[in-house]
Amino acid sequence: MDRYAVLGHPITHSLSPQIHALFARQTNQTLQYEGIELPLTSFETRVWQLFKDGYSGFNVTAPFKGDAFDFVDEMTDRAKRSRSINTLKKLGDGRIFGDTTDGIGLLADIHDHLGWALEHQNILLLGAGGAVRGVLEPLLAANPASLVVANRTLQKVEELADDFPALSPSTFADLSGQFDLVINGTSASLSGQVPPLPEGLINAGTKCYDMMYGKAPTSFLRWSSANGAAACADGLGMLVAQAAESFYIWRGVRPQVEPVIDALRKALAD
Ligand code: ATR
Repeated sequence: MDRYAVLGHPITHSLSPQIHALFARQTNQTLQYEGIELPLTSFETRVWQLFKDGYSGFNVTAPFKGDAFDFVDEMTDRAKRSRSINTLKKLGDGRIFGDTTDGIGLLADIHDHLGWALEHQNILLLGAGGAVRGVLEPLLAANPASLVVANRTLQKVEELADDFPALSPSTFADLSGQFDLVINGTSASLSGQVPPLPEGLINAGTKCYDMMYGKAPTSFLRWSSANGAAACADGLGMLVAQAAESFYIWRGVRPQVEPVIDALRKALAD
């Protein structure tokens, strides 16, 4: 049986094994998928060993997406530009191929699944870490009217602007105007915090998206609702959509995301 795993540290809370089990059932594929926690310091040797042990591919999550980028023999252009890899696959000749599906996952969720517009919209993206870098290219390709990227540390967002000149870097305090869509790509929600945003950025037409998700609405989405956002969504759909794209890379079949999002939402609520 073909074997896959998600590699991270920690890995206990990962929903990926559940997601891929549901994809496999839905598409009548026989495969095994598990979570493996790797020590922080030996990504390369451990992954070589796992491939030798017979695994066909891996998802890679925090904090190893940069290590995976350094590890592969071949990668897509979008992975090169995002400097991040979340999907590894062993090719027929034994070389390792890598790709990033995080950006496609975000776009698929916002545009295809939620039906929110991106084209000609004024978009504010919060954060400048790996999660944000990974989604810049597809967001810009969606042709927004503007893309402002704001971060606590200005230097980090200015570095992103060196690679993606179409974005406008900002601090939180310097933000002004109103936005059609605000996407939180900071990890502030993990600690129940909200980036210190000035008042008046959102209005009754603004949609708010948090790349994080949880059992209850994230702190950013609670802030968004309290400030009168038109609609809010968390990143569970992005997680499932990026997994679907990884599944497609490995298996050549694209599973449907909606039934899996619904099943996970129910499981999270229990
Ligand atoms: P990830 O891979 O999740 O993007 P990361 O690369 O460590 O993780 O980036 C975390 C992001 O969340 C950064 O943009 C960080 O801001 P700094 O660059 O200033 O460190 C942001 N972040 C984390 N906690 C935050 C908080 N409490 N308020 C605002 N921004 C926060």
